Amino acid sequence: MTLVLDGITRVFGPVRALDNVSLTVGPGECRALYGGNGSGKSTLAKIASGTLAPDTGRVLVDDRPLGRADPARARSLGVGMTFQELSLIPLLTAGENVVLTDMPGRAGLLRDTARADQMAQAALAPVGLAGRRDLPVSILQTGEKYLIELAKALQSRPRWLIIDELTATMHASEVDVFAGLLADHLAQGGGALFVSHRLPELRRFCDTISVLRNGKLVFDGALAGVGDDELVKWAGGGHRDAPALMAPARDGEVRVKAKAIRPLPNAQPLDLGFRAGEITGIGGLPDQGQKQVLRLLAGLRAPSPGESVSLDGEALPLGSAAAMAAKGISFVSGDRDEMVFAPRSIRENMLAPFAAMRGLKMPSDAEITAALERLATRHAGISRPIGGLSGGNQQKILVARCLLLNPRLILAEDCTKGIDVAARNDVHHLLRELAHVQGTTVIVTSSDDQELAELCDRVLVLDGGRIIAELARAEGRLDAQAIVSAYMKQERAA
Ligand SMILES: Nc1ncnc2c1ncn2[C@@H]1O[C@H](COP(=O)(O)OP(=O)(O)O)[C@@H](O)[C@H]1O
Ligand SMILES: [Mg+2]
Repeated sequence: MTLVLDGITRVFGPVRALDNVSLTVGPGECRALYGGNGSGKSTLAKIASGTLAPDTGRVLVDDRPLGRADPARARSLGVGMTFQELSLIPLLTAGENVVLTDMPGRAGLLRDTARADQMAQAALAPVGLAGRRDLPVSILQTGEKYLIELAKALQSRPRWLIIDELTATMHASEVDVFAGLLADHLAQGGGALFVSHRLPELRRFCDTISVLRNGKLVFDGALAGVGDDELVKWAGGGHRDAPALMAPARDGEVRVKAKAIRPLPNAQPLDLGFRAGEITGIGGLPDQGQKQVLRLLAGLRAPSPGESVSLDGEALPLGSAAAMAAKGISFVSGDRDEMVFAPRSIRENMLAPFAAMRGLKMPSDAEITAALERLATRHAGISRPIGGLSGGNQQKILVARCLLLNPRLILAEDCTKGIDVAARNDVHHLLRELAHVQGTTVIVTSSDDQELAELCDRVLVLDGGRIIAELARAEGRLDAQAIVSAYMKQERAA
C-alpha cells in the first residue's frame, strides 16, 4: 500500500511549476513537503489529490492510477486533501460544508435534513466543532475554518491525507487537535503528505522529507538526518537570471508615511515609510499581513483605530478606494476576476477609474493606444472586449492604465501571477521606469520570492504582522535566498 507520485511535471504557461518530481508515501508515514514560496508544493499536493492533472508522470494510489484530474475518483481511491486556500463555501454552514459532497437525499425530498445534521455532527465532532455546525463558515475564525477543512477531508476516511499549510494560522491548541487526529490516522496505517514551512512542526509530525526548489526535487530522505540550516539552504536560492536593473533614484524623499498600522489584528502597531522613486516589496510566508498593508493603502480595507497614512504630507482618506484613487493612488491586482470587466471593451476598462473620479481629464484614444504600446500590448483594437485577450495582455492593460492615471503611488498585488515571462518582464520594466525615471513610489507583494528579489529595490519581510527583515539591494543584501532565509529562520526560532 503506497501513494506514489512518479515523474510529475506540470507547466503553467512559461512557469515550470514541477519538473520530474517523484516521491512515495507509505503506511504510517508522514512525509514533509518543504520549500519556499512558489516552489511547487501546492501544485504537487493538488496533483496527488486529483485536483490538477500532471502534464507528464503519474499518480498511483495503492497501485491504481489516478488518470485524469478527477477529485471524486481520487476520493474513492482513498485520498483526502485540505487546501491552503480552503475549499469551504463561506455562505454555507460548517455542517453543510462537510456533508455537501455526500449530501443524503430521500425519495421525493431535496435532502434529508435530519440525516444531514447527524452526519455533520459526526464529522465535526473529531475537530471539536460539532457545536458550531449551524454557523456560516464566513463568520468563523481562521483556525476554525482550517479545522473544518480538515474535518471535510477526513469525512471520507482517506488512507492518504494531503495537508497543505493547514496549521499556518492555527492557535497552538488547534494544532494539538490536528496532531491528535494525525496520530490516529497514522496509527491506523494511513499515510500523509504534510506541506508546511514551519520546521518545528515538520520535526514534530514528520519522519521523512522531500524538499522542492523552483519545481525540482532537491532532497528526499529521513528528516532526522538533516539540520535546519541545510533545509533552509536547500529551499532557498533560485536559478532564474535577474534582468538588468536601472539604478533607483537615490535618497528619494519619504513620500508615504504609514503610522501605527496593524497588518494583522493582534499585531503591534507599525510605522512604515516609502520613498519616491523606490520599489518596495513586502514579503514573507503567505498571510503574514502583506495583503493587509497593501489593501489599507489602496483604500480597500477599513482602517483600524489609530491607523493613519499620509502622502506627500497630506492625510489620506483611508477606507475608500475611490477617494484614494482620486489622491493619485493606483492599485493593480493579479486577481483578474476582481480587476477586469471581461465583456467591456479595452477602452472602457482603461477609462473605468476616470469615470468614477471628478476633475480628471479623460484620456483620448490616441493616449490610450500610446500607453498600450509602451507595454507592447497585443490587441485588435481598443473597442474590442478585453475578455478576448490572453491573461498576460489583460494584465498589461491594467498596468498601462496606471500610465494614464500618472499616480504618485502604485500598489501592485501579485500583479504578474500566471502571466508569461515576456509579459512579466514588460510589466517589471514599466514599474521600474515609473519608479526610477518618473519618481513614482511603488509597493508590491508577490507569491513568488524570485519576483520580489528581481523587481524590488528593498524588501520588507513580515512575520505575524511584524517586520523581521529589511533587505536592500543597495546594501547587496537582496536575493531570493535572503528572503527565504529570513522567514524560514523565523519559523525555526518560533
Ligand atoms: N493556476 C495557476 N496558474 C498559473 N501559475 C500557477 C498556477 N498555480 C501555480 N502557479 C505557479 O506555479 C508555481 C508554483 O506554485 P505553488 O505550487 O502554488 O507553490 P507553493 O505552494 O510552493 O508556494 C508558482 O510560480 C505559481 O505562480
Ligand atoms: Mg502553496
